Amino acid sequence: MRARRESYPARSIYKLQEIDKRVRLFKKGDNVLDLGAAPGSWTLYASKLVGPAGRVVAVDRAELTIGAPANVTYINADALAVEPDELIALINADGFHSVISDMAPRTSGQKFVDQTRSYNLFCRALELSVALCRHGGNFVGKIFQGEDFEKARDLVREAYVKTRIIRPTSVRSESYETYIVGLSRR
Ligand SMILES: C[S@@+](CC[C@H](N)C(=O)[O-])C[C@H]1O[C@@H](n2cnc3c(N)ncnc32)[C@H](O)[C@@H]1O
Repeated sequence: MRARRESYPARSIYKLQEIDKRVRLFKKGDNVLDLGAAPGSWTLYASKLVGPAGRVVAVDRAELTIGAPANVTYINADALAVEPDELIALINADGFHSVISDMAPRTSGQKFVDQTRSYNLFCRALELSVALCRHGGNFVGKIFQGEDFEKARDLVREAYVKTRIIRPTSVRSESYETYIVGLSRR
């Protein structure tokens, strides 16, 4: 498997790589909040790009399987319950440059139920991003496309100057997941 050969634990890495190629999310020294980070591919990718002067705060209910690099702080928590103050206290700055969320519910097989759960996780990620992202910062949120999709996109538009809908080519064709990207926090 290519992801493992390149020492990433999950193929979700290609989704973030593709999004990043299109909108250039990270630079050296950035602080990144990674929600739904396990097993850790996105964390590893962001940690390489922000370098030793940057920091990635990785949040998940599940454990990371990567050996966390020195610039990564892992928080074992439910993103629906974690306090924003607890997250901001982990960086030496008053806001994150990017908040990225690949959070996904455990799928039930019932499309509407899964879409609603995904929408709720997306909204929580956006809420944390609005609270913790610095002016000019960026947001990436995964969402299962359903009837709340346009509402989700409009919420991003309210908080970010530019909005992009990106469905990476590495997303399996039968999957209805996509990413809403907000660029430049108002
Ligand atoms: C697709 S995986 C993320 C893959 C990750 N981006 C990577 O590259 O390794 C989705 C993750 O969302 C997490 N998740 C779902 N609901 C969550 C919640 N309420 N709080 C924290 N993490 C959650 C799951 O535990 C799972 O690890």
